[in-house]
Amino acid sequence: MTAPRKPQIAPTSNAAPFAIRSERAADVAMREALLDACFGDNRHGRTCQRLRDGRAPAAGLALSAVREGTLVGTVRLWHVSAGGRPALVLGPLAVDPACRELGIGAALMHQALVAARARGHGAVILLGDAPYYARFGFSAKKTGALVLPGPFERDRLLAIEFQTGALDGAEGTIVPTGVALPKRRSVRGLRAQAA
Ligand SMILES: CC(C)(COP(=O)(O)OP(=O)(O)OC[C@H]1O[C@@H](n2cnc3c(N)ncnc32)[C@H](O)[C@@H]1OP(=O)(O)O)[C@@H](O)C(=O)NCCC(=O)NCCS
Repeated sequence: MTAPRKPQIAPTSNAAPFAIRSERAADVAMREALLDACFGDNRHGRTCQRLRDGRAPAAGLALSAVREGTLVGTVRLWHVSAGGRPALVLGPLAVDPACRELGIGAALMHQALVAARARGHGAVILLGDAPYYARFGFSAKKTGALVLPGPFERDRLLAIEFQTGALDGAEGTIVPTGVALPKRRSVRGLRAQAA
């Protein structure tokens, strides 16, 4: 069993510090509200969501940023097969609009990438703005022959390798390979059973 992650405390230029720690079950409601605020109600229809639906995030790779007891940031990584190569997909990364430009996004990214590398993963892929993610080492160099299971902008499909060549020859559709979550029974189904 891995030891629980020690929260990382980061002082900010603007009063309250924040901590990065493993996501907890109690974070879920605040995380969902944060994602709605950042990506809107139609976020579940986005192409990357097809890689997350019904799956658990990769072990140890769901992180929360907490400031004054409130969840202000989130990042998760997911197991995928990238044209036959095992990899992780990162996302969503989101920071509370009221807490941006304080380094919280960067701290979440650094901690997530350090943890992914430490766990022996070879590469991380994401769909996002290259000008932001380039600072963490992401580029489109290894993603030219990969596609997502839905519409996406080619220049936003980025990757970083931890093991040189981890994505060499990666070609085809990125598909989810993470642990499947138990199917939730619908309220209607439960009512029918009880009747
Ligand atoms: C992208 C996001 C996570 C950054 O969080 P943050 O805590 O403000 O980021 P940091 O404080 O670590 O970094 C701020 C820096 O990133 C830059 N930046 C932020 N978003 C950017 C973008 N889309 N493109 C280029 N640069 C960006 C800022 O200009 C700032 O630059 P500086 O360091 O030169 O001043 C946050 O803006 C967010 O949640 N956006 C909405 C959701 C989203 O787009 N998520 C990413 C796609 S999954």
